[in-house]
Amino acid sequence: MDKKNLVKKALEAKKNAYAPYSGFHVGAALLTDNGKIYTGCNIESASYTPTICAERTAICKAVSEGERKFIAIAITGDSEWTYPCGVCRQTIREFGEDIVVIVAKSEDEYKEYTLKELLPHSFGPENLK
Ligand code: THU
Repeated sequence: MDKKNLVKKALEAKKNAYAPYSGFHVGAALLTDNGKIYTGCNIESASYTPTICAERTAICKAVSEGERKFIAIAITGDSEWTYPCGVCRQTIREFGEDIVVIVAKSEDEYKEYTLKELLPHSFGPENLK
């Protein structure tokens, strides 16, 4: 896995963030098992609630294109280390606990976790079988 390239894509996606209310820009890049990368940025709304995070934008783009198997997601935001929010952790969780979550400050500085580390003892699709 080319983690540096995934981080680069997240940094590029961050430039498209539509965040006129918070002023906080986030970018994400999601790697599929067949090597494709889907990017996302946060998109805010004047009525606030419809706001979607960068991670979920990327996941929505990928799933709506028929992708379901994800290897990793890189995230970068305006704070030094921008971790995925709880809703995004749960959304990533839907597609696997082993997905690697890369939290990036720059192309050369990033930290790596598994989704399971960020969302332990989670509820997921297996619970509904
Ligand atoms: N945001 C994300 O895009 N991802 C996260 O995981 C944390 C929060 C966005 C949502 C909102 O547009 C802005 O950051 C401030 O919360």
